Amino acid sequence: MALVTTTEMFKKAYNGGYAVGAFNVNNMEIVQGITEAAAELKSPVILQVSKGARAYANHTYLVKLVEAAVAEHPEIPIALHLDHGDSFELCKSCIDGGFTSVMIDASSKPFDENVALTKQVVEYAHAHGAVVEAELGTLAGIEDEVVVEAGHESYTRPEEVQEFVEKTGCDSLAIAIGTSHGAYKFTADQCTRNADGILVPPPLRFDVLEECIKRLPGFPIVLHGSSSVPQEYVDIINELGGKLPDAVGIPEEQLREASKSAVCKINIDSDSRLAMTAAIRKVFHDKPGEFDPRKYLGPARDEMKKLYIHKIVNVLGSNGKAE
Ligand code: G3H
Ligand code: 13P
Ligand code: ZN
Repeated sequence: MALVTTTEMFKKAYNGGYAVGAFNVNNMEIVQGITEAAAELKSPVILQVSKGARAYANHTYLVKLVEAAVAEHPEIPIALHLDHGDSFELCKSCIDGGFTSVMIDASSKPFDENVALTKQVVEYAHAHGAVVEAELGTLAGIEDEVVVEAGHESYTRPEEVQEFVEKTGCDSLAIAIGTSHGAYKFTADQCTRNADGILVPPPLRFDVLEECIKRLPGFPIVLHGSSSVPQEYVDIINELGGKLPDAVGIPEEQLREASKSAVCKINIDSDSRLAMTAAIRKVFHDKPGEFDPRKYLGPARDEMKKLYIHKIVNVLGSNGKAE
């Protein structure tokens, strides 16, 4: 199977009550970890590339790595998606260069400007066989160069979603219901603490999600900022010389719940970074003499693969859904 768009994936996910994982890729080990996990579980998957990833690894290298994964795992549908595109030119360049899906993120602009830019990208993408994800509402955290402080995020306004989708023709819509980018999704003030002193974040706004779904029947919704920041990785990192105080993510049960609804795509990046960092710190701690990159990048790839398997089975529910 060649690279696919997300159209069929989302149709099946919507009707099947599961979500497809969209995992960020920056290098070979990440691409391999994700696609080996998805292939073993017969799951569709979205590999997404941010502007920063493209600047780091180079467009051609990333596309060729993804093409290699497609050749290795022809039995599963794989989409290649631009994460948080911030201009028409960037989206066009990715579409021209083989991506099957792009996100135009004009969510920090006023509604009319968001509509105009999204529409421009949609027209180009659809004329070239690609699909478009857009965003309404603002997540807290860091989206490439845009930093939104906790407390300055804004939930998606359900009364705007229908007009936005009709005017732009976008294929899926990212909404803000309380998820957030990065490993520090909430300040300690926004959370409570459980008996072990671990921060417990405020619950996702399922009421906002429900209102959006009512106004967009059958339409795929996307959740960004959906890492759960596993405490075991944070603990390993902190115990072995790292410093991630009060890192906090979205509880997985809430994401599992969301994936049963119209939420068809769930974005995860920070959890991969934590898995990779914890595994590498462990090798450096246990074997201080090790300096062969394969001896620490290999365990990092294995740990990430374990994480993706866990996400696909326990959070997304997309295992066995590849056709
Ligand atoms: O939402 C942002 C993703 O985690 C990508 O992060 O821009 O640092 O590559 P990045
Ligand atoms: P996390 O930082 O929660 O992994 O979110 C990733 C994301 O939304 C990529 O677009
Ligand atoms: Zn995002």
